[in-house]
Amino acid sequence: MPELAYLNGKFMPIESAMVPIEDRGYQFGDAVYEVIASYEGKLFCVEEHLDRLERSMRELAFPPVSRDEVRDTLFELFKRSGFSRAGIYIQVSRGVAVRNHPFPETSTPQIVMTVREVSEVPQEYRENGISVITMTDFRWGRCDIKTVQLLPNTIAKQRAIEAGVYDTIFVTEAGVVREATSSNLFVVKNGILITHPLTENILAGITRMVVIDLCRELDLPVEERFYSTDEMFDADEAFLSGTTTEVLPIVQIDEKIIGDGKIGPIASRLSAVLQRRGLESG
Ligand code: PDD
Repeated sequence: MPELAYLNGKFMPIESAMVPIEDRGYQFGDAVYEVIASYEGKLFCVEEHLDRLERSMRELAFPPVSRDEVRDTLFELFKRSGFSRAGIYIQVSRGVAVRNHPFPETSTPQIVMTVREVSEVPQEYRENGISVITMTDFRWGRCDIKTVQLLPNTIAKQRAIEAGVYDTIFVTEAGVVREATSSNLFVVKNGILITHPLTENILAGITRMVVIDLCRELDLPVEERFYSTDEMFDADEAFLSGTTTEVLPIVQIDEKIIGDGKIGPIASRLSAVLQRRGLESG
């Protein structure tokens, strides 16, 4: 099955796709992106991802991009790949222009996409849970915009790998818990789920939204509010949510074992229900 790219109206092998060096995404991180996954040949939450892509572009005052064109292209790329469990990466930059800080007066947004098979979280992590570390959030003030400026996220993830754990949770100096490097975070205390509210400091995850919807259907109370590292360490359960992460239980944060150190009942239930929802989608 081919791993493919889309660039300038053409589909090609990923290795053949080249962008100009003066693309503003390359020089200024002036680009936004989405990652969409499929379950058994059906793409999950496409319109929600397109909504967020449009919002990111609007927040950065990009010239208009046709939603229909993006949608048609991503479905075509997906079809050509033939992958059942695909991960589609969509990136839109402001365009190509002579290097200069202000937005160019005119530019044509450059749309690139790739499709690969999802690189799955190892089954062992899903069954036994993961360990994570915390780190002071040193990202910019608009984490709600899904830009490709991910250096802090990559540094934080690298630090996790070097510490022998799966991921890093960003927390503020004042001890407010934000999210992980490419997933949102939920904690559970006495049967109540708690997650950071939608502000400029976290990404409005599509999976976060689906998990909250599922909780409503399952009569599980959810509080979208600020919570502290103390509350996090004291939680009965914790888990990450994300497009390819899905619901991933956490059993240790820094030195602290969460709950009894085994994956909790709510995380494991939500993980199963989310997968089923993915499989039923389309
Ligand atoms: N990351 N928070 C951050 C910082 C993210 O980068 C992501 C997604 C999420 C979860 O959002 P969603 O549920 O819509 O995937 C939360 C993508 C998958 C990535 O960077 O690869």
